[in-house]
Amino acid sequence: MTARSFLRDDDLSPEELARVLDLAATLKADPYGPKPLAGPRTVATIYDKPTLRTQTSFAAGIAELGGHAMLVDGGLAGIGRRESVADVARVLGRQASIIVWRTYAQDRLEEMASYAGVPVVNALTDDFHPCQLLADLLTVREHKGTLAGLRVAFVGDGACNMGNSWLLAGALAGVHVVIGAPKGYAPEASMFDRANEIGAGTGGSASWVTDAAEAVTDADVVVTDTWVSMGREDEAQARLAVFSPYALTEELLAHAKPDAIVMHCLPAYRGKEIAASVIDGPRSVVWDEAENRRHAQKAILAFLAAESGLS
Ligand code: NVA
Repeated sequence: MTARSFLRDDDLSPEELARVLDLAATLKADPYGPKPLAGPRTVATIYDKPTLRTQTSFAAGIAELGGHAMLVDGGLAGIGRRESVADVARVLGRQASIIVWRTYAQDRLEEMASYAGVPVVNALTDDFHPCQLLADLLTVREHKGTLAGLRVAFVGDGACNMGNSWLLAGALAGVHVVIGAPKGYAPEASMFDRANEIGAGTGGSASWVTDAAEAVTDADVVVTDTWVSMGREDEAQARLAVFSPYALTEELLAHAKPDAIVMHCLPAYRGKEIAASVIDGPRSVVWDEAENRRHAQKAILAFLAAESGLS
């Protein structure tokens, strides 16, 4: 059986996404029951960028599934320097049942998946953060009871992994995603094209406006992310000036529906992309969102294991 990977959000069909979210809810209700990674099967986890939520939620979730999370030090391994990505993939594929990797360029992850012979999971790249979107959609569904037809505003740096992933995963779920971002910081046109292609079948849509208030108007969910993604630290000063009109303040949030929820994948920089009173306020669901990383990632691991004939 061919290994099934999760490299970007649209590696799942709309039906598969719904199944994975249902499974996540089931696993959340019974966290220590199902053990599809019993053996224990080893999951190699590699982090080339900083991590808190991703590393801990994968480690805890893999343990709950009966597996073993093996932390591979990407610096020691020298992936792509000391050995080619392809050779690392061939070796890890002989030691582990699944590989989870946070790295920079998306093509590194794709190369890993081509050669590993086992499922590879994107734990964040420069282009996508699909595991976060599984957690985010699970969280929205818990709070709103549904996904299809909702309006989600993503304000700030739309040209980052989270902007791209919201477009694709939102479209798969039938959500209307509006990016509120300045010129030069919106997702590439190909992302909108792909999202609207998916949306043609699900009822979802993807659009971009430069005015933050317009993006947030009538939103059911308001999302933001850091203005300085990992790897872009040298642009921090310039970005502060560009993005300041997009700060998620009480004033901006007032344009959303009265029962709108606020999301942030974290880490958050209070007083920059989000006001302390908003992230720490009654509409914020960020801690549910952080917890749901574990449940959602357990679901995608269990799904890929089953699809790949591992369990
Ligand atoms: N866009 C952010 C997400 C952090 C989880 C980054 O890449 O740093």
